[in-house]
Amino acid sequence: MKILMVCLGNICRSPLAEGILTAKIAELGLDHLVDSAGTSGWHVGSRPHEGSIKIASEHGIDISHQKSRQFTTSDYEDFDLILAMDSENYKDIMKLAANEAQKKKVKLMLNYAHPGKNMAVPDPYYTGNFKEVYNLLEIACANLVTEVRMD
Ligand code: 4NP
Repeated sequence: MKILMVCLGNICRSPLAEGILTAKIAELGLDHLVDSAGTSGWHVGSRPHEGSIKIASEHGIDISHQKSRQFTTSDYEDFDLILAMDSENYKDIMKLAANEAQKKKVKLMLNYAHPGKNMAVPDPYYTGNFKEVYNLLEIACANLVTEVRMD
């Protein structure tokens, strides 16, 4: 299975989500593929925000090699599951879907932590709270990996 994490800038939340899920998949010896992208192209080519790199490294995860890229319509063909960090990201991705099958691939990330609540991952670019983001993503990724290991 191929999973894409999506936020606005692809420098704070989705790189962290990619790193956490990738680590869990490696720990379990699974062969799912994880990537991340931003709905904007504002930071294309940049590595993750220092705050995301630091909180990941405090948990033994290295995300410093990642490079920001923008979400494209071809991601709908390349990925099975597309996880939006907040409802704006969700709407922006859904606008680019060509059909119902593609729309079905898009889900809100935190519904894996708090089902049905449609919660947003707070943006640490504005809040500065990378620890809160890490903790939310950790729970969502733990639940997600339990689901995808069946596939
Ligand atoms: P992210 O956070 O979507 O979690 O990567 C942001 C990064 C950059 C900006 C906004 C949010 N920005 O305005 O440049």
